[in-house]
Amino acid sequence: MAEQTALKLLRASCPTVSVGILTADLLALGSELALLERTGVKLVHIDVMDGCFCPVMTVGPPFIKAVKTPLLKDVHLMIADPLEKIADYVAAGADIITFHPEGCAHPHRVLQQMRNMTNANDPARGLVRGVALNPGTPLEVLKPLLDELDLVLLLAVNPGWGGQKFTPSTFDRIARVRQMTADARREILLMVDGGITRANTTEVARTGVDIIVTGSAVFDGKAAEENARFMMEAVEL
Ligand code: DX5
Ligand code: ZN
Repeated sequence: MAEQTALKLLRASCPTVSVGILTADLLALGSELALLERTGVKLVHIDVMDGCFCPVMTVGPPFIKAVKTPLLKDVHLMIADPLEKIADYVAAGADIITFHPEGCAHPHRVLQQMRNMTNANDPARGLVRGVALNPGTPLEVLKPLLDELDLVLLLAVNPGWGGQKFTPSTFDRIARVRQMTADARREILLMVDGGITRANTTEVARTGVDIIVTGSAVFDGKAAEENARFMMEAVEL
């Protein structure tokens, strides 16, 4: 029996960093994950792209299942029609799931459906349910979903690739989402993803976001462990 739910564990870790692993050495995934664990990172971010919602394809449920780690698996679904597919990602061991309402006719139903699903890692742990929004999507889409949401992910780049440049209008969007969740009296976690580097982590963290996703700035093929430590310290400044 788990002592804490995934949502409680996540809240207790914030502000924190979720590290994207698609630019890691996937043939040495075990040691790449061990490296993150050594630095105190608590979340591993897995970008799922389906070649339909996104121009490229990345990984699916078998990969998520193969990620053996005590870190919380933060699964960002950039896929079309998640309603029919989300159960497979939960069965593969996702702890946190975000999906895009832009790729989905029934986002409210997807969230309701997830409420009744069981965390495959530990049934007592529960799932963290989130939606992710592209930089060009009006924030109003969130309003009718707030009652069912644990987390909002704001993408600061368009979905598709790591290593893109952070979109400055994200700062305004962070403030507006915060206002919206405060007005609704909902404690919803806010995650920002895309274009976050050593140079701008602290600036983004100072907006008060809860979770910063960073991929290529950590797994840069050179100094991943040092980069991860730098990011973990930068979100506390
Ligand atoms: C964008 C993805 C991001 C991205 C992060 O499609 O959702 O998670 O890969 O990578 P960096 O940190 O390199 O922008
Ligand atoms: Zn992502």
